[in-house]
Parts: sequence; C-alpha cells; structure tokens
Amino acid sequence: MRFSLFPAIALILKKFYNVSLRIKVIGLVIFATLLLGLPVIYFVNIDFSRQNNMQLKLMSRAIGKQLSSQSVNYILEDNFYALAKLLKSSVKNDPDVIYAFIQNKKGEVITSTFDGGFPAGLLKVNGFNLKSISTVKIKTNEGIAYDTSVPILNGRLGIIRVGISTKRSNMLLYSLIKSIIFIMIFAAVLAIILSSSIAWWVMTPIVKLSEAFNKVKSGSYDVNLDIKRDDEIGMLTRDFNKMAESLKKANEERIENDNLRKNFINNVINAQEEERKRIAKDLHDQFAQMLAYIKIRIGLLKNLNNIEEARESVTQISEELTNALDVVRNIARSLMPGILEEMGLVCAVSSYIDDINKKSPNFKVDIDADDIKNKRFNPNIEINVYRIIQESLSNVILHSHSNYAKITLELREGKINGGIEDYGTGFNYGLISKDSLGIFGMIERAKLLGGDLKVESKAGIGTLVNFWVPQELG
Ligand SMILES: Nc1ncnc2c1ncn2[C@@H]1O[C@H](COP(=O)(O)OP(=O)(O)OP(=O)(O)O)[C@@H](O)[C@H]1O
Ligand SMILES: [Mg+2]
Repeated sequence: MRFSLFPAIALILKKFYNVSLRIKVIGLVIFATLLLGLPVIYFVNIDFSRQNNMQLKLMSRAIGKQLSSQSVNYILEDNFYALAKLLKSSVKNDPDVIYAFIQNKKGEVITSTFDGGFPAGLLKVNGFNLKSISTVKIKTNEGIAYDTSVPILNGRLGIIRVGISTKRSNMLLYSLIKSIIFIMIFAAVLAIILSSSIAWWVMTPIVKLSEAFNKVKSGSYDVNLDIKRDDEIGMLTRDFNKMAESLKKANEERIENDNLRKNFINNVINAQEEERKRIAKDLHDQFAQMLAYIKIRIGLLKNLNNIEEARESVTQISEELTNALDVVRNIARSLMPGILEEMGLVCAVSSYIDDINKKSPNFKVDIDADDIKNKRFNPNIEINVYRIIQESLSNVILHSHSNYAKITLELREGKINGGIEDYGTGFNYGLISKDSLGIFGMIERAKLLGGDLKVESKAGIGTLVNFWVPQELG
C-alpha cells in the first residue's frame, strides 16, 4: 500500500499542477473543507457517543432505583394494578424508557410494560442479580439499549429491570452531524463562489495580458491595455504597456535601420560603379591618350637624323612617361593607399593631410597622434579608421567653410579613440538626407569593428566627429 500510495499522490499532484488556476482554487477549497470537516465529524461522533452512553447508563440506573423504591409498597400490598400503572407511566412519560418489568424473588415476572407478550430471551440478557445493580448493553427491535437491573428492598422483593433506548440520542447525534455537514457544504460552496470570483477577478487581466503577449510575440506591437486598478496586476499591466511601447520603438528603429542599411548598400554599389567608370575614364582619357602620344613620338623618333632633335624628343617622351606614371599612381592611391599597408595608420593619415595642406593653401589640417605613432593594428582596423578620417575631412572641406581642422588619435582604456574637429558652419544632424552616404558609412565602419561613432554639430560653432574602435579584432 505504501509503495503504491506515493506514486498515486505524485500523479494527482502532477495533474493538479497542470490544471487551470480556477480549478486549483476550487480543489484547494474542497480539500481544506474536507481536511477540517472530517476530523470535526469524527471527534464529535466519538465524544458525543461516549458522553451519551455514559449519560444513558446513569439515567437507566437512576430510573431503575427510583422505580425500585416506588414499587416496594405496591409489592408488599400485592397491588399489581398500581405496580403496572407505575411502570407504564414511566415508559409513557420518558421517551427514552422502552420497557420496565419486575421479577419476584423466584425470578418470575410479576408485572411488565409488554402488552403483546414478553420478549423471549430478554430475561437472560442481564442475569438475575438480587444483590447489586447491573447494566448491560443489548440489541432490541428499537436499536441498541441499556438494560439495568436494580434489586427491590435489597433483593428481598425481587428486582426491577428497566430498558433505556439509545435511539433518541443517536438521532440527536445524527442531526448534529447533519448540521455540521450542512454547514461544511454551505461553507465550501460559499468559499468556492468567493474563491472563483477572486480567481476570475485575478485571472481576467492575466488572460488579457497573455493574449496581449501573444500579439506582441506575433509582431503586432500596437497594444495598450487598460489599467483599471493600482495593485500588483495594475503594475504588471503598466510595465507590460511600457515594454510593448519600447518594443514598438525598437522595432520602428530596426525597420528604419534596415532601410538605411539597404539604402547604404545600394549607394555603395552605385558608388562602386561610379568609381569604376571614373577609373575607366581616367585610364582611357588620360593614360591611354598619353601612351598613344608616347607611341607616336617614339614612331617619329625613327625618322629623326638630327641627334639634338632626337635627344629633345627623348626628354619630352620621358616627361610624358613621368606624367603617365603619376596618373597610374594617383589611380592606385585612390583605390588603396599603399603607404597604409607599408607604414601604418598614422603615416598614411599624415601623408594624406600633407597632400591636402599642399593642395589647399587656405586650409590647414593638424594631427595629434603621438600616442599611436609607431603602432600597427589589424589591416581591417587601419583601413576603416583611415576611411573614416578621409570622409570626415572631405566633409569639412566640402561643407564646413572652416579653414582649419584638427585630428586626434589616441589610445584610451585599450581602445583607439579618434576625433575630427572643425570650427565651421556646423549643421543640424537630424535633418541630413537619408541618401547621404558619408556619415552613415562612417558609423557603419565603426560599428563593424565593434566600436561606435557620434557626430556633434552646432550651427556657427562647428562639428566634432568622435569615434572609438577596439585595438584588436575579437
Ligand atoms: N563638417 C561638416 N560641417 C558642416 N556640415 C556638414 C559637415 N559634415 C557633414 N555635414 C552636412 O551633413 C550632410 C551629410 O553628410 P554626408 O557625409 O553624410 O553626405 P554628403 O557629404 O552630403 O555626401 P557623401 O555621401 O558624398 O558623403 C552634408 O550634406 C552636410 O550638409
Ligand atoms: Mg560626405
């Protein structure tokens, strides 16, 4: 039994664990009612029966004694009529007394309350004791009863026997138990109604919350639940609304970023095409023209007899070749600055700045990069930081109307920190066109390396592009 009881309880608990909250509450109420009610019924039954039996036993002895003393004179006077009347009135007046009879010294029944014949066997159930009072529990047609035998005049006149039924007191006990059961059922029904209402009151907003969660899960963030109360559920609903709101914002931002990225990729592809066209045009218009010209000049060289003319022609061809070389170098540098690969980031940026300073006399760029002067980084980091600086400077030159820009590059907390500052017109960052590739491209480059880039600009004061990227790629 012990071995099969525990798995059964475990199974019930497991089933109970999975049912709805309402069923759980109702189940617990019923369980609590039974847990309290059944022991109450059990103990009331036991206690009441014990008390009652004692009471009935004492009562049968008291009645027996009383009838014994009252019947002495009637027996001495042989007044059987009065004797029978005495016993019958006792049965009639006390509903618990079911019979009474008197036996003389010889054991013969001289009077009894049995009109329809004396029940066989009744004489034997309690013996015939002339010396002392004795009470026994017997079974009768009317249920369990207490039969008490009391000697009359110390046994000299015989004995009197009285039967006291337990029927009425049992009925009292049953009606008491019935009342308890009724109260239990009433209390359980009341508790079920109350707890169901509470469960409904608690569950309704939770069910609504769960539906709203599913909506959010399926991607529709436009949910705003009514906050009807200020308790924990109200707090939960408020927090849920806040969460849905921020998810909505995050989703909108994501969609916007996706669009920006798509735009960026399109623009990058277009820019690459443009770059190819430009290179092809440069090669065709400049380089190919130069080579064609050099070829013609070399062809003409064959027919020259004058050594001086030939020397001059060779000098011009050599100059032309130098120009052609410059064109090729420029194209190559615009594609990928070789110095970056050979000498590193700071050298490449410094060389780029020197070029700008040489070409534009009214504009000056300074660099402060002592911190990382001789340091080399991953080529990916170097080219991206180089491109960020290139784009920033190109923006300063094209848009800021500033005549000065300052670049700083340093190591801070193990990261490369960079800044490109100008003191020009500034601009409203929120208003820049979505088609502008430059700033978005810079941010993308910094983020691609695991860093970030921020643009701060104030009209009339200038612009500061600040970025950081890790020193090493993870
Ligand atoms: N340093 C600056 N000073 C003033 N305005 C600037 C500066 N940098 C950017 N801007 C403004 O921000 C806009 C966006 O710059 P962004 O580099 O993204 O695009 P762009 O330079 O216009 O085009 P491109 O895609 O060729 O770079 C510029 O058009 C300009 O109006
Ligand atoms: Mg730009």
